[in-house]
Amino acid sequence: MDRSVTAHGFRPDDLVRIRRDTFVQCVEHHRDIASTNTRALSLAEEPGLALPALVLTDLQTAGRGRGANRWWSDRGALTFSLVVPRSHVEPLSAGWTRMSLTTGLAVGEALQQLRPGLELGLKWPNDVYVRSRKIGGILVEVPPRAPDRVVVGVGVNVNNSLACAPAPVAELATSLIDVTGYAFDLTVVLVQMLRHIADELTALARADSALARRWTVFCMLTGRQVRVAAGQRITIGTCQGIDESGALQVDTAHGPQRCLSGVVTVLGGD
Ligand code: BTN
Repeated sequence: MDRSVTAHGFRPDDLVRIRRDTFVQCVEHHRDIASTNTRALSLAEEPGLALPALVLTDLQTAGRGRGANRWWSDRGALTFSLVVPRSHVEPLSAGWTRMSLTTGLAVGEALQQLRPGLELGLKWPNDVYVRSRKIGGILVEVPPRAPDRVVVGVGVNVNNSLACAPAPVAELATSLIDVTGYAFDLTVVLVQMLRHIADELTALARADSALARRWTVFCMLTGRQVRVAAGQRITIGTCQGIDESGALQVDTAHGPQRCLSGVVTVLGGD
């Protein structure tokens, strides 16, 4: 299973395979880079760029997360960004939550397929969890000078053990190697993820009404007591799932509420 991808990173034949076996039309590969999303935001400004374009790195040194968050990664992690046409993926755009959820769902489906039995879940709006630990995150951004395109960044801890991570990260996160004990071929994992992302973004583009049900089924918060903090607004109650607009549905003491953004804390332990 492991052919030392962790040591050597992606090779030219891996890049050929990614283009051949997925919807990606061009690949830009870096041995290391600060942030694939930052690079993809610049690349997206090139008018003749073949889409979807993939920016891929063996090592991301200054990954960005949602808001002011940073994304820690190490060799053996999957960190990549896709540039996709906006019209293709989200004709009815009402914020980017739907795209984050759809990408998170696709990442979870790919991991599930690679390792059946993993207790995977989506933590609204942009995280993928295994049990109570974060294994992946999604960052959707619009290039300011190319608003007809969208950058979808994906970070997943695969062969990078969290034993090497800074303590605050290690306490909350995990990786595939940590939960399974196996190292994975990163190209296989990436190809699987890109295929699922292609399928799910197509479902999003045609406004497939089944998506909300799939988000809800995959949502680790459904049925749990949650606290959603969005600036000064705090919503506390039982999560009922995710609606078609991508909003988190919460049953509170004052009736049902829809949360369009915010940071969620699960109340009452794992
Ligand atoms: C989050 O947890 O808030 C989202 C994390 C997203 C991380 C990925 S890694 C690839 C891409 N490049 C970045 O700088 N960030 C995203």
